[in-house]
Amino acid sequence: MKVTVVGAGNVGATVANVLAAKNFCSEVVLIDIKEGLSEGKAMDIMQTAHILNFDTTVTGATAAIGDENGYAPTAGSDVVVITSGIPRKPGMSREDLIGTNSKIVGGVVDQALKYSPNAIFIIISNPMDAMTYLTIKNSKLPRNRVIGQGGMLDSSRFRYFLSKALQKAGYPATPTDIDGTVIGGHSDKTMVPLVSLATYRGIPITNFLDDAAITDAVEQTKVGGATLTKLLGTSAWYAPGAAAAAMVEAIALDAKKLMPCCVYLDGEYGEKDLCIGVPVILGKDGMEKIVEVKLEGAEKDKFAESVAAARDTNSKLGDALK
Ligand code: LAC
Repeated sequence: MKVTVVGAGNVGATVANVLAAKNFCSEVVLIDIKEGLSEGKAMDIMQTAHILNFDTTVTGATAAIGDENGYAPTAGSDVVVITSGIPRKPGMSREDLIGTNSKIVGGVVDQALKYSPNAIFIIISNPMDAMTYLTIKNSKLPRNRVIGQGGMLDSSRFRYFLSKALQKAGYPATPTDIDGTVIGGHSDKTMVPLVSLATYRGIPITNFLDDAAITDAVEQTKVGGATLTKLLGTSAWYAPGAAAAAMVEAIALDAKKLMPCCVYLDGEYGEKDLCIGVPVILGKDGMEKIVEVKLEGAEKDKFAESVAAARDTNSKLGDALK
């Protein structure tokens, strides 16, 4: 299993680091436009090999924008993770990044695809739902091979905030005790944490928490990325990187794991020609199945709002769409 991670910033380096530590890839190539950055981070990660006991080889490469041959070291990758582009600063929404990042993402996908024509692409760059849509439209790849990372991260944040709420209510809960799924767009305003499906060790969350505590956990989940951006001065990386690495693992090991991911809908959930977060099965072919959850009441309405917002963002892709 060879994996390329495009972009050696905080998120890209975390993906490479987590992949190496998990020790299921033969090779991870970290590639960036900034001379020395990926080489340095790859070397630093490799110097943990003995300590963490992994055999994965992590290498760094530099490729300038548009450099025809720069992606040669990535050749034959099974999975390509795209983290390129600028992260948001405090006060910005993910959608504010669309102009800059659509050009960057469009370019690197072309470069990577040239050397890894059979790869499965995982898109992390923001606004992620629109970048996933752009990638699938421009590359013409089948939809199973272009998957956006958002739902795993948002669901993990939802579990974290629910565990905090449970602790406040007197229960010794940790995030691993919680089941919680977030669907919809990876966006501050319109992601949809599904309260109806959230449980604490299989018991509905509503059994333990009042409406106010649940609403608070939902709202904190939605702005989870913005909260960290404010604290850090740039967007988060540990959880986004770990979420992408979990997706790579499910694909690499053909694990058939159910994860909320951003995929292209072609009639599922009553929607077409749109990339948005829904539960899917991930295995060796990438997105192998879309799981339809019957949405009702407020959750159905919120998903519809999220769909409308994602369509609106896509309409701003302009001439980045080929
Ligand atoms: C976040 C960014 C990476 O949610 O989208 O942290």
